[in-house]
Amino acid sequence: MESPFKHDILKGKVALITGGGSGIGFEISTQFGRHGAAVAIMGRRRQVLDAAVAALREEGIRAIGLEGDVRKQEDASRVLEATISHFGKLDILVNGAAGNFLASPEDLSPNGFRTVMDIDSVGTYTMCHEALKYLKKGGPGKCPYKGGLILNISATLHYTASWYQIHVASAKAAVDSITRSLALEWGTDYDIRVNGIAPGPIEGTPGMRKLVPDEMTSRTREYMPLYKLGEKWDIAMAALYLTSDAGKYVNGTTMVVDGGLWLSRPRHIPKEEVQKLSRVVEKKLKTSNNGLPSSKL
Ligand code: HXC
Repeated sequence: MESPFKHDILKGKVALITGGGSGIGFEISTQFGRHGAAVAIMGRRRQVLDAAVAALREEGIRAIGLEGDVRKQEDASRVLEATISHFGKLDILVNGAAGNFLASPEDLSPNGFRTVMDIDSVGTYTMCHEALKYLKKGGPGKCPYKGGLILNISATLHYTASWYQIHVASAKAAVDSITRSLALEWGTDYDIRVNGIAPGPIEGTPGMRKLVPDEMTSRTREYMPLYKLGEKWDIAMAALYLTSDAGKYVNGTTMVVDGGLWLSRPRHIPKEEVQKLSRVVEKKLKTSNNGLPSSKL
């Protein structure tokens, strides 16, 4: 689908995207590139990075792939240095790297819990921490700060509770908290905007393949207000909004892009039934209250 944004809204910007070689991260990398940014993608798998970079360069996008694990502070620091030495600066950091699997708390070891916390929460914090010196620009004695941007990819699992996702829900709750805290602190000190995106079920992603078996997809769809899965494009468009000047007054928010799914519950009573039933219930109540409407009791 064509982008509704002007093709140069990220012109001259340099973005580093963790987990940028596949899924939602790759779509963000592609759309950032198509809108003028140079992109560095960080991931653990060389082959995935190489294929992603080749596809981006094919489109004329300036791109490099940097191997690293967000759980390792030295990898974070090395990848950031490599981005700077290649492109000369950093304007946007997208924390997209994440880990996930289905497991009930009964079967999930503390190390399994910690692994996802390490990737999603500590990894996000580590990347932000290591990136700060490049994202803060200007400064006292030179010119007022006019910093870069951070975008954290989150989820909606922790807004309520989700089966078999205690580790991921906990990790993403921490990510949202990091988003708000850094938005406050670095927004105030360095004019760095920090926001997040909480995607719903997005078709064709590793997350969907891991969490929703094919045979469950149509059942999930029945509960969705918009009755459809999202596309990676939807997330990338939200990312463009938040990281371009279109979002210049947005700081500390996590934008839910899920078609309203997190609000939804199965409809237990059909609409037509409610129309009939509701009147009957009111009438019954009136009778049992000696004809008085409930407001007069
Ligand atoms: C129970 C499990 C498990 C499973 C791993 N563990 N898989 N426990 N059920 N299915 C436990 C292991 O037993 C071990 O604990 C601990 O977790 C670490 O496992 P490792 O395999 O050593 O970890 P590692 O090789 O580092 O792999 C990390 C990973 C893996 C998270 C387990 O899946 C991964 O690398 N994923 C990255 C890609 C990914 O998941 N992408 C999907 C993102 S989707 P013990 O105690 O035995 O040592 C996404 C969507 C979120 O994020 C939003 C949803 C709506």
